[in-house]
Amino acid sequence: MTSGAKNSALFICLGNICRSPIAAAVFKHVAKEMGVADNWNVDSAAIGSWHVGNPADPRAQKTLKNHDIDPKHSARQIKTSDFNQYDYIFGMDEENMKALKRMAPSNSKAKLCLLGSFDPNGEKIIRDPYYDNDDIGFEKCYEQCLRSCKGFLEQDYGS
Ligand code: 4NP
Repeated sequence: MTSGAKNSALFICLGNICRSPIAAAVFKHVAKEMGVADNWNVDSAAIGSWHVGNPADPRAQKTLKNHDIDPKHSARQIKTSDFNQYDYIFGMDEENMKALKRMAPSNSKAKLCLLGSFDPNGEKIIRDPYYDNDDIGFEKCYEQCLRSCKGFLEQDYGS
């Protein structure tokens, strides 16, 4: 991939209030640390419409703040045009990937990827922590997103 070109990444989960807002914020943070933030347009979206317009779950906000990452977010639902707007669309689990494949138009430009496939530790599935009674799963989600986003960006740009 040519350095300096504008690339784009969209992070998807079921509700766009837990995993994908964390993933998008972490991706931006890692890209900034690597000095490539200007090369990337980044957003996140939901498969479903339940939380459109809502901020991230308070536990996701707290997790990001604990790592000095801005948690500002407004949930939106994925739309057909996203498949031609974005270079990469990342899902968090196999259900997300199935839904994305079902929704993708035949001329889709976006590469559909499981975010965890870039985790050097091999943890492929980023489990949904929404129904948990605590915030431990959110920290785990953060750590998985951090490793996976680093893994992806290092693969793209060389480390
Ligand atoms: P997320 O978690 O997909 O990581 O944002 C969820 C948030 C809300 C719901 C499901 C998953 N929900 O059913 O409302």
